[in-house]
Amino acid sequence: MSGELTRRNFLKTAAVGAAGVAAAGILGGSPFSARAEEAEAKAFEGKKKFAGIGSVRMVAEDVAYLGVSDRRIQLFENVYPIPRGVAYNSYLLLDEKTALVDTVDRSVTGQFFENLVAALDDRPLDYLIVNHMEPDHSSAISEVLVRYPDVKVVCTAAAAVILNQFFACDISDRAILVGEGDTLSTGKHTLTFVMAPMVHWPEVMMTYDDVHGILFSADAFGSFGALNGNLFADEVDFEKDWLPDARRYYCNIVGKYGDQVQAVLAKAGTVDIRMLCPTHGPVWRENLGWIIEKYSLWSSYTPEEPAVMVVYGSIYGGTESAANALAAKISHAGVVNVAVYDVSKTHVSELIGEAFRCSHIVLASITYNMGIFTPMKNFLLDLEAHNLQNRAFALVENGSWSPAAGGLMKEIIDRLKGASYVGDLVTILSSPDAKDAAALDALGEAVANSVLYGEAEATPAEEAAPARWVCKICGYVYEGDTVPEDYKCPLCGAGADMFEKEE
Ligand code: FEO
Repeated sequence: MSGELTRRNFLKTAAVGAAGVAAAGILGGSPFSARAEEAEAKAFEGKKKFAGIGSVRMVAEDVAYLGVSDRRIQLFENVYPIPRGVAYNSYLLLDEKTALVDTVDRSVTGQFFENLVAALDDRPLDYLIVNHMEPDHSSAISEVLVRYPDVKVVCTAAAAVILNQFFACDISDRAILVGEGDTLSTGKHTLTFVMAPMVHWPEVMMTYDDVHGILFSADAFGSFGALNGNLFADEVDFEKDWLPDARRYYCNIVGKYGDQVQAVLAKAGTVDIRMLCPTHGPVWRENLGWIIEKYSLWSSYTPEEPAVMVVYGSIYGGTESAANALAAKISHAGVVNVAVYDVSKTHVSELIGEAFRCSHIVLASITYNMGIFTPMKNFLLDLEAHNLQNRAFALVENGSWSPAAGGLMKEIIDRLKGASYVGDLVTILSSPDAKDAAALDALGEAVANSVLYGEAEATPAEEAAPARWVCKICGYVYEGDTVPEDYKCPLCGAGADMFEKEE
């Protein structure tokens, strides 16, 4: 095989990219390294990937938006349907020194490098600031390092480790590792780095620019949805066209880490932020308080509005009929905008988003294999995984011979902090009858009264609040009298000695 690229090395090269491989020295010293460098020089001649003019908008007079939208992608993180696509945002500060803030996903690097080349206009690139190492923002880093060999990489120590893990990319000779409150001067601008662990990975930081009051906020304040020329949130009807996707993005991607988001919001409240530049979705330059208030509600698990969602899992229509009757009763009693969902055909990410919006969640499930209907169980477990709290639930179960879904749903709901119940469990045998109609009427009325007048009937006994211990590395909160000696943080793996009691 001498002189040939083996299949094994070919795959390795394809995965990392010839440029990244050369930069990382993976093939260094092999017969293939010279060939790779030669190919590289040709491919990057003129620093263009394809001929093109770039697509750059200015966020401020010396801050360019280089982001790219992907309208082909079906599933974000291979999980979440995004029919409106998604934008991967990257920014370039054109001060006396130039600083690139984050890159893009591998799917859009062609357009990204067109943008970068156009915006730099033959200036050198001095700094690459890595706020977040998730590959939807870091996939172009190794190629940036090859194209701009003198660039310094500014990131957290954790980001440098993860960068090497993903891309076999050792940046030790060009890294500037930063921590909370560290600064970098680029000339007229001073950039301050704000640690934001678990928003949404442990290595995350945000970058604050003192001249324009820009917070480059990583995933925070982001949204699903491609940008269509309109870059700023005030250039679109955000509440009508973007809010559901912004909520669905936050709740599904970051929703589990409410404590960590609250910690960042507290820090943000101490600085003069005039613009929010996230890594996805529109840039905020007006009405920042509106989106910050949404984040405050979502991250504190406070319902966004007094509202009801009814979710049913039905096979032959009996449970669906009960859900429809219940929704009609709740509506007749005066609750507006009741939302009804078939759990089998509504993607669970939509349901999670709605659960973060609504104060009341009505669940109607058939009994299936002596358990909860599978998609309903998946929804409930996803609610638990996303740490949903402080919601009122009402339950309906169905079963033709041995209904059991109600008690089993309650077992999961009981694990949600601050969960309460409204009305009595309604049990249906196959199809609702006149007796069930009366019970559904009563349940609907109880739900409506709870939404409209705050009346809740039954609440699980509140246990005395345990002490809270905060991981100094990632902000994870352990609850208990003491942290066991052999405890390891489930988020970052830190030991018990890294936990501090919250006062
Ligand atoms: Fe958009 Fe956590 O990456």
